[in-house]
Amino acid sequence: MAALVDRFGRSFPYLRLSLTEACNYRCSYCLPDGYHADGRPRFLELDEIRRLVRGFAAVGMSKIRLTGGEPTLRKDLLDIMSTVAAVPGIRRIAITTNGTHLPRHVAAWREAGLTALNVSLDSLDPERFREITGHDRFAEVTEGVEMALGLGFDSVKLNAVLLRGRNDDELPGWFEYLRGRDVAVRFIELMRTGDNLEFFERHHVRAEALEEQIAAAGWTQRPRAPDAGPAREYSHPDYKGRIGIIAPYSKDFCAGCNRLRVTARGDLRLCLFGDFGIGLRHLLQSDDDFDALVARITTQLGLKAAGHGLHQGETGLTPHLASIGG
Ligand code: GTP
Ligand code: 5AD
Ligand code: SF4
Repeated sequence: MAALVDRFGRSFPYLRLSLTEACNYRCSYCLPDGYHADGRPRFLELDEIRRLVRGFAAVGMSKIRLTGGEPTLRKDLLDIMSTVAAVPGIRRIAITTNGTHLPRHVAAWREAGLTALNVSLDSLDPERFREITGHDRFAEVTEGVEMALGLGFDSVKLNAVLLRGRNDDELPGWFEYLRGRDVAVRFIELMRTGDNLEFFERHHVRAEALEEQIAAAGWTQRPRAPDAGPAREYSHPDYKGRIGIIAPYSKDFCAGCNRLRVTARGDLRLCLFGDFGIGLRHLLQSDDDFDALVARITTQLGLKAAGHGLHQGETGLTPHLASIGG
């Protein structure tokens, strides 16, 4: 099945599915204190996920990334992975996690069908890591990454959100880290959301200066693969690892958009920013609604905008990225 194409010619083989809004971290740039319960389970249950993924596979989605909140807080994560893996047409299952549960569970996730892993690692310094995330879990996360590297994943990627004055001077340490490890570290420009305005003003730093340092050290930009995500990727013959830059404020960032999102509550989000969310959950209660689900997804994609409004200072309706899985 060919992936759906929107009115700007972009195709969408990739669904980011949030499994929960909850997270066991309180990163200063991401999650506000607290979140609400609305009476129903806050997250889609296994059968709802199965129906949802079947619907998206029917419109050509072949990659599912499990996100959150922190998706590994779901007690039924293994069942979710094997359920998603069993849907015809789904070829790649990825997860984005803060990594604290890796040491105990990553081998089982791999067994259950997980094919790719992205882990947040904002600093290579344990003390800075603690300051940024509010948790002293550097050792578990880095140990978990080492374990993951031996499990034959298609890719293991690390995410470091660039923060002025906190972690924007760590390039030499990262180079050393990447010398012998087959891992990509992606430096992410802090994105402005509805509830981090002051923090954004204080800590946002453009990725360009860092990119110049990377190029000056002999790293070269790799050609963009057709199904690539938002990162510009760099490699270097002396290093096993790669570097990615995710710069949502750069020109044409959205032209290559290839993903849709579904929130933990079952709302389709056409864009990370400026989107109300389109309810799908009522179509996930019975297998009989399959055709209606597929029709709704197809119709809604026609409404996807060309890009976000961040350049105009808009934060859209995105209160914080954890609510829709980043
Ligand atoms: P792969 O390409 O599948 O490896 O995933 P990814 O790098 O997109 O996923 P990950 O969950 O690791 O996200 C890394 C960062 O990129 C997070 O800060 C996301 O919010 C951001 N990101 C991912 N996709 C988009 C997007 O479409 N738009 C914007 N603005 N940010 C995105
Ligand atoms: N800007 C950029 N990245 C963010 N993340 C969370 N909030 C923001 C933000 N405001 C990152 C996390 C994680 C990924 C899924 O999104 O650090 O690595
Ligand atoms: Fe796609 Fe929206 Fe992200 Fe732009 S900001 S790349 S349109 S999801």
